[in-house]
Amino acid sequence: MAEIQQKFGLPKRYEGSEPSVWVEYIQLALDYKPLNLGQGFPDYPPPKYVTDALLEVAKGTKHHQYTRDFGHPRLVEALAKLYSKLIGRDIDSRREVMTTLGAYEALYATITGHVDQGDEVIIIEPFFDCYEPMVRYAGGVPRFIALKPKNTEAKFLSSGDFVLDKAELEGLFNTKTKAIILNTPNNPLGKVFTLEELTFIADLCKKHNVLCISDEVYEWMVYKPNEHIRIVTLPGMWERTITIGSAGKTFSVTGWKLGWAYGPANLMYNLLMVHQNSVYTGCTPIQEATARAFEKELERLGSDESYFVSISKELEPKRAFVAKFLQEAGFKPIIPEGGYFMMADWTPLESLVDLNAETDKYKDYRFTKWMTKNIGLQGIPPSVFYSEEHKSLGENFVRYCFIKEDKNLQAAADILNKWKSEKKQ
Ligand SMILES: Cc1ncc(COP(=O)(O)O)c(C=O)c1O
Repeated sequence: MAEIQQKFGLPKRYEGSEPSVWVEYIQLALDYKPLNLGQGFPDYPPPKYVTDALLEVAKGTKHHQYTRDFGHPRLVEALAKLYSKLIGRDIDSRREVMTTLGAYEALYATITGHVDQGDEVIIIEPFFDCYEPMVRYAGGVPRFIALKPKNTEAKFLSSGDFVLDKAELEGLFNTKTKAIILNTPNNPLGKVFTLEELTFIADLCKKHNVLCISDEVYEWMVYKPNEHIRIVTLPGMWERTITIGSAGKTFSVTGWKLGWAYGPANLMYNLLMVHQNSVYTGCTPIQEATARAFEKELERLGSDESYFVSISKELEPKRAFVAKFLQEAGFKPIIPEGGYFMMADWTPLESLVDLNAETDKYKDYRFTKWMTKNIGLQGIPPSVFYSEEHKSLGENFVRYCFIKEDKNLQAAADILNKWKSEKKQ
C-alpha cells in the first residue's frame, strides 16, 4: 500500500494542487441545499433561439460525427466574421481562430502553448483562479499585482475604484516576462478596464515584447456608461494578443463548455499544437448550434433585438436589486461595471456570525460556509481569486452571482431580512 502511495502521488509539477473552490462549494451546495448565489451560471432558461438551434441539430443526421480539429468550419467562419467586424480587421477563420472546450481550454492552450520553464507571467488580482496553476504547470513563474481601491471612504464603491498602481506594474516587466493575463470585464470584481488603463498595459507589452492574454468571456455584460474595449484593437496589439471568449457566457449556456481564442496565425499555431495533442476536436453538435446562434446575432448586431445588447439590460435591474438588499442587510457592496458578479464587504456583519464554527484558514471561507450552513445563502470566498501573499485582500469579501431569476434574488433578500430581524430581537 505504502509502495503504491509513494509511486502514484501527483507528479511534481502538480504538487500543491488541491480540489478547487468550485469542487468544494458545489459539494457544499449539494449537502446543505442553500439558495445558491455562488457559482456563475443563470438559473433560468437560455434564449429559445439558442436551444432551438441545438434541438434542430440534434434531430438532424449531419452533425454527430467528428468535425474539423481546430474548430467546426461553420463556427470558425461565424466567429471570424463577428470579430473581424468588432476589431476592424479581417480574421482568417482557418488560421486565426480556434474553438476549445470552454474558455478554460483556450486559457490552457494559450498558457501552455507559450510559457516555458522560468518565463514570468503577470497576473492581475483578483483573477480567475485557474490562471495561476496553469502558469505553474507550464513551468512559469506568476508575478502578481492587485487592483486596489483608490477611495475607500465612498458610500458605494464601484469596481472602477479599483486600480493598478502604474509604477508597480511597470516594475514587474523585465526580460523574463513572457505574458500578462488581463480579464475585462473582470471576474470577480466586475471591473471594466478603461481605454487609458488598457493603453498603459499595451504600451508596456510593446516596450517589453510581451504577449497579452485577454480573457473577455464577459464581453457582452457591460453596464452603461462603461464600454468594453478589446485590447487587441489598440495600435500594435494584434501582433501580440490572444483574445479568449466563451459560448457559455455569451449565450447563457455554461453547460455547453464551448470557448474560442483568436489572434495572429503565428501565435495561434502554438495553441493548435497543445489542442491537437490533448483534445484534438471539440463537440460537433454544440459547435454547429452555436454557429447558427452567432449567424442570427450577426444579422442583428448592434440592434435592440440582439442578445448581446439585451443581456446587459436584463441584468442591470438585477444588479441594482442585489446591491440594494445587500446594503440594507449591512454589507458594503462594490457595484460592478460589467460581468454578473458582485463583491461585497461582509465585515460589518461579523458580530452576527460565528466564524469559530468553521476551521478554514481564511475568514471569507469561514463566513461563506457559516452562511451556507446556518442561514441558507451561498456565496463564493474571494480570497481564492488572490495569490497566497495577497489573500488578505479578498478575505473581507464575499462574491455573489446575480444572473438569477428575480424570485430567487427576492428569496435571497428575504433570507437576509429574516436573519437580520431575528438577530435584532
Ligand atoms: C474569467 C473567466 N474566464 C474563463 C472562464 C471559463 O469559461 P468556460 O466555462 O467557457 O470554460 C470563466 C468561467 O467562469 C471565467 O469567469
